[in-house]
Amino acid sequence: MNISDIRALTPIVQEYAYFQTSGFSPTLEPVIDEVERWARYQNRAPALPEVYTQMINLFEAARGKVANALGADADEIVLGENATIGINIVANGIDWQPGDNLILSTHEHPGNRIPWYNFVQRYGVQLRFVNVVHDEEQMLHEFEQLIDARTRLVSISHVSRRTGQRLPVKALTEIAHQREVPVLLDGAQSFGAIPVDVHALGCDFYAFSGHKYMMASQGTGGFYVRRDRIEWLKPSWIGSHSQKEMDLDGHMTLLDEAKRFEFGTRNLADQIGFGKALDIWAEIGWANVFAAIAAYTDRLKAALLTVPNLIVETPLPYEQSSGIVTFNIPGIGAAALSARLLDRDHILTSTLEANSDSLRISTHVFNNDEEIARLVAALLRIQESGY
Ligand SMILES: Cc1ncc(COP(=O)(O)O)c(C=O)c1O
Repeated sequence: MNISDIRALTPIVQEYAYFQTSGFSPTLEPVIDEVERWARYQNRAPALPEVYTQMINLFEAARGKVANALGADADEIVLGENATIGINIVANGIDWQPGDNLILSTHEHPGNRIPWYNFVQRYGVQLRFVNVVHDEEQMLHEFEQLIDARTRLVSISHVSRRTGQRLPVKALTEIAHQREVPVLLDGAQSFGAIPVDVHALGCDFYAFSGHKYMMASQGTGGFYVRRDRIEWLKPSWIGSHSQKEMDLDGHMTLLDEAKRFEFGTRNLADQIGFGKALDIWAEIGWANVFAAIAAYTDRLKAALLTVPNLIVETPLPYEQSSGIVTFNIPGIGAAALSARLLDRDHILTSTLEANSDSLRISTHVFNNDEEIARLVAALLRIQESGY
């Protein structure tokens, strides 16, 4: 398998210039085949010991593959339905007291805001936002001013979903840890797009999705819990399969591993498909994937900069960037622009918050140079003729 094969495994590219990986990527065809294969196998007799055991073994193998891709150990990985599950488990795993505070960034996705906003209402937790700016030193300085003795957690994106900017998360984590504050990184936009090594980053928690850069099914993802944080995190979402043992007097011991936070009957076939996606990327080679995404976004930025009046909001140096390039054209609203690109040019992009003029182009290794040329030609035409 080579990087150039990915386009052929992504049929949607015949119809659209698909610049929406950061929302939902198409699922790789072999992943769909794998999910179907194991769903059919399971349906032979789901409760038959050999079928059940085989499904669990493959599910556990997927956990190992996720751990490998993240630089984690398998016992630190929770497989769940999406990235937000991990954020909620951490959020509900802390004994919040009125007056405690939490630090987010100004670029967080609703998935890393709404769980906390809920806690503002329930527990009187105060939210503090560090401004995302291109100048990392300034961000770090502002962060140091925000963090104090009542800060219980930092929950921040590894890569901004608005502009694709890589936030200086290693340095932020070091500052937080000097004050004994744990750090949750929202990796929805980084896992599969840029190199991630959670042990090297030093973070305490890392939430990720399978349906974006991994090109696995919707309903896959999960989170990493650093081994020493497994016991620290109060178990609020647990159930059957979380336990090692239990009795009728209310005593129980939970599993030592992070999978104590998984419970009930799971969708094993989709997670096995997630494992298949990881096999494909590993066969291509992560270094090749990351290099291709980097080269493509560099070409995209250079092409966009030739469009008059267009402002690229994403930092230009790739070290501060990822698979996303966001821009605006003053005077042309992003919603209208996105609709025109879709209707006339079959270019699928994403707007951000309501009233924002910013348009997000998120790219993957299946995008090609014809799509960049089509986008630029469409932008020039829209500027000239209005549609
Ligand atoms: C930065 C970020 N965090 C969280 C999410 C939510 O991810 P999920 O749907 O996997 O919970 C998204 C989805 O776009 C995202 O971009």
